[in-house]
Amino acid sequence: MATASSSTSSSRPLKIGIIGFGTFGQFLSKTMIKQGHTITATSRSDHSQLCSHLGISFYREIDGFLEAENDVIMLCTSILSLPEVVKSIPFHRLKRPALFVDVLSVKEYPKQVLLQVLPPELDILCTHPMFGPDSGRDGWKDLIFVYDRVRIRDEIVCSSFLQIFATEGCKMLEMSCEEHDKLAARSQFLTHIICRTLSEMAIESTSIDTKNFQTLVKLTESTTNNSFDLFCGLFIHNRFAKEELKNLEVALEKVKQKLHDRMNEELGPSVSRI
Ligand SMILES: NC(=O)c1ccc[n+]([C@@H]2O[C@H](COP(=O)([O-])OP(=O)(O)OC[C@H]3O[C@@H](n4cnc5c(N)ncnc54)[C@H](OP(=O)(O)O)[C@@H]3O)[C@@H](O)[C@H]2O)c1
Repeated sequence: MATASSSTSSSRPLKIGIIGFGTFGQFLSKTMIKQGHTITATSRSDHSQLCSHLGISFYREIDGFLEAENDVIMLCTSILSLPEVVKSIPFHRLKRPALFVDVLSVKEYPKQVLLQVLPPELDILCTHPMFGPDSGRDGWKDLIFVYDRVRIRDEIVCSSFLQIFATEGCKMLEMSCEEHDKLAARSQFLTHIICRTLSEMAIESTSIDTKNFQTLVKLTESTTNNSFDLFCGLFIHNRFAKEELKNLEVALEKVKQKLHDRMNEELGPSVSRI
């Protein structure tokens, strides 16, 4: 059952290391810096120029990154690359235990990977900020932040991390990874699959757009701005997404059938046969 948390009050400045400095890692880091946290980053690609511009120490090698004594290691890699990335971390290089936080858009899968691969002394917080660079462009107020405290011993570090989002005005929702995936398959995944389908049809503005159609075009554009890897991850690693895809196909058939039935009633079967 989801609950709005009240356990996010105590906080201190954190040293946060980001693994995977792509679109979403960059987006989150800007607010964290604004709040006074110290950020380091490492990534497959070289983001050193952007990092130096933002005041972030960028490490090409993971060893140096792990030795930077971070309080939090935030995993912002693609869903698909998570196991490869996590299994390649030389945990013995950590100077002290850190809180590992993932921000993946699916939740049961990273929970399972992190519990399997991380040494038992490392804390785990599974999270999903339900917003991105588009929806969070003008601030995070009233946007939803979902989290599951999978294995937490250092309460101060965990609550300081959660406080980053609470301070920005996010709606903090604590829920199990399973419950998140069930709900997200029926909301976020459906949004993505419908927008990818409309994009495949190359829908675009016309000279006679209704307001609703303009909304649909905008939604399609912003949704398909996310990487194709992210979309695939939402499907492959959320066990509830397959069922929702089936439900969508069945529903489309039902709607088509209703239209054909009504056409038969209106025009007669011989005229309306398609
Ligand atoms: N975008 C959003 O609105 C949003 C919102 C909430 C949560 N998230 C989650 O945040 C994470 C990042 O999302 P994103 O939008 O930045 O795009 P993404 O395509 O899901 O992930 C891109 C990131 O993954 C890294 N990556 C991809 N393949 C890799 C591989 N084989 N080995 C190592 N690293 C690899 C990239 O590294 P390089 O940059 O070094 O190439 C980059 O940092 C995802 O897990 C996503 O589900 C995204």
